[in-house]
Amino acid sequence: MQPDFHESLISQHTIQQIQSRIDIIDIVGTFVKLKKRGTNYLGLCPFHNEKTPSFTVSPTKEIYKCFGCGKSGNSISFLMDHEKYSYVEALRWLANRYNVEIEETAVSPEVKLQQQVADSLYILNDYASKFFIQQLHETEDGTDIGLSYLKERGFSDHIIEKFQLGYAPRGGQTFSTAAIADQYNPELLLKSGLSTDRNGSIADNYRNRIVFPIHNQSGKVVGFGARVIGQADKSPKYINTPENEIYIKSRILYGSFFARQAIDRKDECLLVEGYTDVISLHQAGIENVVASGGTSLTPDQLRLIKKYTNNLTILYDGDSAGVKAALRGLDLALEEGLNVKLALIPDGEDPDSYVRKIGEVAFNKFVETHKQDFVLFQLEVALNDAGKDSQKKSVVVHQIAETLSKMNRPEDFIRRQDYITLVSQRLRINEDGLIELINKQVREKINKPHQGSKVFQEAPGLEIPGSDSVASPETIHLLDEDERQEQAVIRALLDFGLKMYHSETVADFIFRELEENELTFNNQALENILRKYKEMYASGLEPTVKDFLYLEDRDISSLVIQVMEVQTEISPRWQEMYNEKIPTREDMYMNEMETSIIYFKLRKVKRLILENQKEMEEAPEEELFERVAIHQQLKQAEMQLTRSLGTVILK
Ligand code: GTP
Ligand code: MN
Repeated sequence: MQPDFHESLISQHTIQQIQSRIDIIDIVGTFVKLKKRGTNYLGLCPFHNEKTPSFTVSPTKEIYKCFGCGKSGNSISFLMDHEKYSYVEALRWLANRYNVEIEETAVSPEVKLQQQVADSLYILNDYASKFFIQQLHETEDGTDIGLSYLKERGFSDHIIEKFQLGYAPRGGQTFSTAAIADQYNPELLLKSGLSTDRNGSIADNYRNRIVFPIHNQSGKVVGFGARVIGQADKSPKYINTPENEIYIKSRILYGSFFARQAIDRKDECLLVEGYTDVISLHQAGIENVVASGGTSLTPDQLRLIKKYTNNLTILYDGDSAGVKAALRGLDLALEEGLNVKLALIPDGEDPDSYVRKIGEVAFNKFVETHKQDFVLFQLEVALNDAGKDSQKKSVVVHQIAETLSKMNRPEDFIRRQDYITLVSQRLRINEDGLIELINKQVREKINKPHQGSKVFQEAPGLEIPGSDSVASPETIHLLDEDERQEQAVIRALLDFGLKMYHSETVADFIFRELEENELTFNNQALENILRKYKEMYASGLEPTVKDFLYLEDRDISSLVIQVMEVQTEISPRWQEMYNEKIPTREDMYMNEMETSIIYFKLRKVKRLILENQKEMEEAPEEELFERVAIHQQLKQAEMQLTRSLGTVILK
């Protein structure tokens, strides 16, 4: 989730000051009990349940890594993960801890103005929210009409207070008049959607309605939903805040502020359509729930969910248009690596009415037993629609192939294979054929320009091999191997790029080797790091690991951490005994880097051999001779590379 724009203006200077004072042992130590073990510290991992400590913090590298669950990060990401802070919130926490005065960057007048408007809107919304609450409890209409409606629906005092529900009076100008008397300017009132212009004078936008304040993740009121009391006839059931500097619909999930801890605890996020669904579930003790407002999920909303959990369970009523809308968001969810399940609430009910009807225990049980896989659900819906029409059925096959092609990250690889098996069984089609189709989609996607910054989005290494070699453990292993070798190059670059290697720097050596041999990385994010390094290096800077470690882009910083190794230590005694024989880390990295470059070359040669073989099969007679010659040359190169790989390893 992007931070609110007006927050992200901490100056680079301040960030550097914070970074230079960060003591990861102190920070992590605030939340986790740590014991010194060699140069590292060890404790029980706060991110998973364990009895023996495998959570390692390295003060020198300024990172932590859990060898149990694999979670890793730096001081900032620790605060983001453990305390659910945004990047900027984490920086503010650190600044406070280390007495760094926060300096906001000088911003352009337009940005400054926007920022001021945003701040004023927060203040106005807070004022309005309190006004509506007061109206609900302390006016006659408020209690007679508003409160009695809420009570009738079964909302408890406690829940009404928790969600800060209010009442917008009937008068037509009550709120606006009060706000103007309290010095709020009319222009701002219009922008907030709390007031409208009626024939040149300012009037209330919400009249005789229940008001639901909508909070952002940090609990500030960004807008409102105002519901008619009773049945909606002429007027719309809900009136919402219009888009403005702080109400950006695509980034809001109703209830996220109240749900974030429960989502984290349960490692699952329930998604419903309506405000009242969220509130009733809370009242029933089910707190890991947010609402989409019935529209399809946006990338920002999905990212927000993903910050807390990978498991999304959608609870919609079966006949609602919302199901179709949610289906539209599915591909995105898969790309983000979310596990999506769906439970359809029985006819005529929504989560709000259903939980009231059957109670918390039965409701939980219902969700547990009825939640089904979303991909397979989508398939069923589409097949139902298609009926016996074979034309339509083939469209379904293409659609599902497209959906599966979106599961394109290494960690999703096995899951995709499972789907392929299930889907091909259901469709009674050949598994290899489906794989072929998915490959095609993946290829087409790779050829499209890069979008977003997801780490593995376009890793071509993930392409499922063709029909003659179904994805097997070996393929997965190969994949790991590719990744490992690519990481080794980046690791050498980050740690030793500026050191001399023969007559040039390690960085120059790596750049030259990659360029001369036209070697490229499969992993887009590693390629990004390489490119960034190159840029900095070319402009005369001396890039170090830290330049990448604390970047706001977590895809990059977490990859850098993954690449760095928290080493198990060689004991000092050993060091003494074998003083000269133990290779230094530097030696090992250099060796690894050389090996990796050769591996890169080998990988490329092998690919060229395969391509040439394919050509040979189809080549006309007169080309065959040439092809065979190429084949022999390539084989020669392969042999040489394999041999030098041997010498490096044996050296
Ligand atoms: P109740 O009927 O009181 O239980 O409210 P609900 O929240 O269950 O409403 P419903 O299921 O009809 O709609 C689900 C969600 O869609 C609502 O919470 C709103 O976010 C949104 N919605 C529904 N009707 C309208 C409308 O007329 N205008 C707008 N802007 N949003 C609406
Ligand atoms: Mn409802």
